[in-house]
Amino acid sequence: MQQLYISLTVNGDVHELNIEPRRTLMEILREDLELHGTHEGCGSGDCGACTVLLDNEPVPSCLVLAADADGRQVVTVEGLVQNGEPHAVQKAIVTHGGTQCGYCTPGIVISSVALLNENPHPNELEAREAIAGNLCRCTGYQKIVDAIVAVGRE
Ligand code: FES
Ligand code: FES
Repeated sequence: MQQLYISLTVNGDVHELNIEPRRTLMEILREDLELHGTHEGCGSGDCGACTVLLDNEPVPSCLVLAADADGRQVVTVEGLVQNGEPHAVQKAIVTHGGTQCGYCTPGIVISSVALLNENPHPNELEAREAIAGNLCRCTGYQKIVDAIVAVGRE
């Protein structure tokens, strides 16, 4: 089986891997690096559960070949915790009741962080647009949107 050498930075740590060229970034994160916070939902780019930051842009990692992450920076939901403290978005989603089963939550958190990095004070419409690619079957979205807007007001 052909193997490809890649080197990528995930949550600040450099990882050097030999991989099959067909493997996705989501597979590498979950299977090789055991970062299970990146959830696998549809596997086809429709649900957003696998969203990570790739060079600061939110992307569905199930649609990104790991080879395309070579030499790049990846941030997963695990990388948002600093000194044991969850990110402000994570805290706000909890306090606003914006998570139920939690399956969508890591992807929604990553999309929200990407928005707040670009736009620290988003309005409700901007918050809704930022998570438009993240499907949630449980919450109805309003509490998540409220949480994102609240972080911008802190
Ligand atoms: S698992 Fe990647 S978008 Fe659904
Ligand atoms: S909290 Fe269940 S899918 Fe969003």
